[in-house]
Amino acid sequence: MDSSSNNNDTLCVAPPPASLEGFASLSVPLYRASTIVFPNSAAYRARATRSPDGYTYGLSGTPTTRTLEKQLAEIHSASRSIIVPSGQCAITTVMLALVSHGEHLLIADNVYPPVKLFARTILQSFGVDTEYFDPTRLADLDAKFRPGATKLVWVESPGSTTMEICDIPAIAARCRKSGALLGCDNTWATGLLCRPLSLGVDIVAEALTKYAGGHSDLLLGAIILDDLDLYARFRSTLGALGVGTSPDDCSQALRGIQTMALRIRHAGALGELFAHRLEKSGVKVLHPSLPSFSGHALWQRDFAGCSGVFSLLLQNVDVSKVDRALDHLRTFVIGASWGGTRSIVAPMTVAGERQAMPSELHRSYIRLSLGLESAEELWRDLERMSDVLLG
Ligand SMILES: Cc1ncc(COP(=O)(O)O)c(C=O)c1O
Repeated sequence: MDSSSNNNDTLCVAPPPASLEGFASLSVPLYRASTIVFPNSAAYRARATRSPDGYTYGLSGTPTTRTLEKQLAEIHSASRSIIVPSGQCAITTVMLALVSHGEHLLIADNVYPPVKLFARTILQSFGVDTEYFDPTRLADLDAKFRPGATKLVWVESPGSTTMEICDIPAIAARCRKSGALLGCDNTWATGLLCRPLSLGVDIVAEALTKYAGGHSDLLLGAIILDDLDLYARFRSTLGALGVGTSPDDCSQALRGIQTMALRIRHAGALGELFAHRLEKSGVKVLHPSLPSFSGHALWQRDFAGCSGVFSLLLQNVDVSKVDRALDHLRTFVIGASWGGTRSIVAPMTVAGERQAMPSELHRSYIRLSLGLESAEELWRDLERMSDVLLG
């Protein structure tokens, strides 16, 4: 269809295409779209045949989105990924698509807390029965499995704040035997440090908000997988919900990922150094690289390194002392989220949230995320903080 015109009214809304000859840029073009134009009427009528990968409507993505999806899939050696507006959205989409009325969902007790909120509000109202298991005790998982009814097992490794690492291959073997799918939140490691699909996981979710975005100014998530039927199902669920992702945000993530490997290497090395120093000074540190860490052997087996997030377990330290310790910080900032260029600290408590966790672990924690500031200034902050905590 030739739509060229020299009528000014038409030219206002349909500019002539510029030549691309000689233009070679290193950046991924930013394609925005709601409407996608078809070459003829028959192609439009047959548009459903383009799904789930092709372009039919902006809601399911543009070439900018697909570039990010392909990049993430390749980082995981996976066949597909789907970009969604947040990490939480990646997790809830998987759950909504895979578990329905009368079915059973098993969630590790140490997951990102809003996942539990989703289960006890929306999933419960849909008649989904959710139970929580201790991610460190396979016997607890075995006892809660309901063969035939358990459709999905969801883990996060290391877990939010408390950092427990799951034996993913052992959990995957149990899921295969019982006919359940296994999903894993891999936000802490990213595909650079762990590829859960290679450990037997069926579906990976990641919050790109953290390391991929990398600058504390972006919300985005991804579902990463090999199974093409599940892929089509998730795309269809997102289409039915009307969930789309801004290509502008995808473009920001494509930029962030360019430095992700370097940032994680730096933050991981700094975290390891500080974790060892803090432990030596008498603080109880939860960091996978420490031989004292309960998941150390699993981490050595399944992960290629550490990112820059770890926690301190505070035993018998009252809240006012924790607040005083954090208020002494000069370089760290206090806030939610992590994985950005700025070092972030947050006081955390898991009391009341954990059902399968021994009550002696319902204590308070400090979560640290290392960024790119001066290592000396960060360490001075941590010294000040531990002096108050241990004083
Ligand atoms: C482990 C983990 N998964 C998922 C999320 C959710 O990510 P988003 O904030 O993009 O929804 C978070 C956010 O803090 C997280 O820490």
